[in-house]
Amino acid sequence: MIKVAPSILSADFTRIYDAIKMLEKVGADYIHCDVMDGTFVPNITFGQNMIRDLRKQTSLVLDVHLMVQAPERFVESFAQAGADIITVHEEASVHLDRTLQMIRSTGKKCGVALNPHTPLCVLENVLELVDMVLLMSVNPGFGGQSLIPYVLKKSAALKQMITTRGLDIDIQMDGGIYPHNAKQVIDAGVNVLVAGNAVFSADDPAEVIASMKLSK
Ligand code: DX5
Ligand code: ZN
Repeated sequence: MIKVAPSILSADFTRIYDAIKMLEKVGADYIHCDVMDGTFVPNITFGQNMIRDLRKQTSLVLDVHLMVQAPERFVESFAQAGADIITVHEEASVHLDRTLQMIRSTGKKCGVALNPHTPLCVLENVLELVDMVLLMSVNPGFGGQSLIPYVLKKSAALKQMITTRGLDIDIQMDGGIYPHNAKQVIDAGVNVLVAGNAVFSADDPAEVIASMKLSK
């Protein structure tokens, strides 16, 4: 089952309520919330208060992608704010095992993200701890970039790793995904597609989401 997670990074922040209601109508599975701290990535977005307010307005899954240094500082507060999935970057958390355990202890779904250049071997010892692996297909920080093709091979290898171990783990890909490349992404084993620009710049977001889901 392919899921689409539109990123509200590409929404008009002065009209975020309308964006959420639009996403509910057009078949979005998750709301992908890009939290950026200006240190781990060269951009700043929003924090726990945004998640708290979104939680009051929607029952869609809030998929929180923490692009922040030392994310363990904020796991508890994002969980309390109402996140459903909390994803941290391997590159940002020195004691990753502890951070993933911390997410699990909140009862929320646990995700780990890898930047494009980060090899899969960093997951060797922690794969069993996560519900989802997020593979960045652009260098994080901004919407509207182009997908880096080598990440597709990495995704296929991750899929293999998950299957070999008999695990049930989602593979999410994030960055530069559009209807025209969704099939390649899905063929590489991805089952959760993040799409910012593709959805928010579309005249017909429902059609974009539907066509991405049918790209098999
Ligand atoms: C990048 C973010 C992504 C990104 C997706 O740092 O994590 O979620 O905004 O946007 P598009 O689909 O426009 O590349
Ligand atoms: Zn993201």
